[in-house]
Amino acid sequence: MAFDIRLSRRSLLLASGSAVAGLALRPGAAAASGDAVEKRLIAAPGQARILTQPSPQTGVWCYNGKTPGPEIRLRQGERLRLVVENQLPQHTTIHWHGLRVPNAMDGAPEVTQPPIQPGGSFTYEFAVPDTGTYWYHPHAHSAEQVGRGLYGAFIVEEPEPLPVDRDLVWVLGDWRLEPDASIAGDFHNPMEMSMSGRVGNTVTINGRVPGTFPTRSGERLRLRLINAAPARIFGLEFKGHRPIVVAYDGQPIEPHVPEGGRVVLGPAMRVDLVLDMAGEPGSTAPVIDTFYEGLSFKLVDLRYTDEPTLRAQPLNPPAKLPANTMPEPDIARAQRHSVTLTGGMMSGMSGGMGGMMGGSGMSGGMSGMMGGSGMGGGMGGMMGNGAMWAINGIAAQGHNMKPILTLARGKTYILAIDNQTAWYHPIHLHGHSFRVITRNGTTTQYQEWRDTVLIPPRERAEIAFVADNPGDWMFHCHILDHQEAGMMSVIRVM
Ligand code: C2O
Ligand code: CU
Repeated sequence: MAFDIRLSRRSLLLASGSAVAGLALRPGAAAASGDAVEKRLIAAPGQARILTQPSPQTGVWCYNGKTPGPEIRLRQGERLRLVVENQLPQHTTIHWHGLRVPNAMDGAPEVTQPPIQPGGSFTYEFAVPDTGTYWYHPHAHSAEQVGRGLYGAFIVEEPEPLPVDRDLVWVLGDWRLEPDASIAGDFHNPMEMSMSGRVGNTVTINGRVPGTFPTRSGERLRLRLINAAPARIFGLEFKGHRPIVVAYDGQPIEPHVPEGGRVVLGPAMRVDLVLDMAGEPGSTAPVIDTFYEGLSFKLVDLRYTDEPTLRAQPLNPPAKLPANTMPEPDIARAQRHSVTLTGGMMSGMSGGMGGMMGGSGMSGGMSGMMGGSGMGGGMGGMMGNGAMWAINGIAAQGHNMKPILTLARGKTYILAIDNQTAWYHPIHLHGHSFRVITRNGTTTQYQEWRDTVLIPPRERAEIAFVADNPGDWMFHCHILDHQEAGMMSVIRVM
């Protein structure tokens, strides 16, 4: 609705060839904001129906009364002006994950802005340079704030949308609920922080435990998956279907079926899929999460209506989306830096979750308790003061810290990241997207652009990018317990 109004205002401006017409239409607003899209987000406690009835509602923290918060949807190049009001009991900020915004708009507390105190507000304003699937979330007390439901989708549309029958967003959430549906208050458990992070017991799509997903035989979907979970890694299998990846972290990639047909998303990562609904009318197919060994569960059933198939012939494979605007790294002239990840309990399991979570399956039953085999190992170097993880030997205490690297603006850098721990880490760089150029010394097939790279236990990855966005940028693990327990750093571009 608002979107249409905005478009017509813009077309009017274009038609009249003069901004004066716009001013006449909407005095104050247009004069103050230029052509910015205006929005307001109120972060506050609220109630959400996560579990289906007769379970009670859940007390959550949310934006504008909802979790996920309202979807923000712009067109490439548009400007957003967004006021955040903080009605939470603690300070907050918003980070626009993956969007290459100016440093002052990045939402890193104490680094790019003062935290927004309870009762306070802050205005973010920036243009969106790139198309794709992004998201927003707090960057203060984030393990708790994201764990209580503060996050939302941020979509930047292509000038020419990919031709599909439906363009859908699935924000994947992970909660730890008590039997009475309230959020368990056991944030910051040191044992978990030094292992997998706080993995929950209830997985949601767009804020609800999903039952079935209605679909029609023959339709083509664009499915934008966003992993908004504080710690859970997803590995989704669409049984009987062939999901085609067209973008990672908002950045277009050669359309391809992922390895083993399984779509893996670490925390903060996004995958855009083209999904051809090839099932028979009236049939059902499950989407299974098989990421953690021995802990697979059904996320949702794809339920076909009885309508006849939409098209008799299968469609051609999707075309590659047009590239975004990042400068191409000059690998031959790149300067190389090593980044070493250390810490945590040393006996993580290959599945990455120290053998935890007994109990009775998802949607309400899983106990989410730590226990079992991960424990015997001892820490990989204690750092004191609650710090359990480090980047290049430094365990962050809060956001404000000396940069681990200072990069020259406009130059290409390769960061060789070495995960010396027994745990997965989704490593995120603010303000830039990068190419993942090697894994464990081998050139990657797609040299994919990302803003978050998932590095398995004791593995390595090299990322390359042009440091073109000046400022102090957070570089950290997106398992939010790891981030808060030290696995965070600052990279300066100047
Ligand atoms: Cu999505 Cu620094 O984070
Ligand atoms: Cu981590």
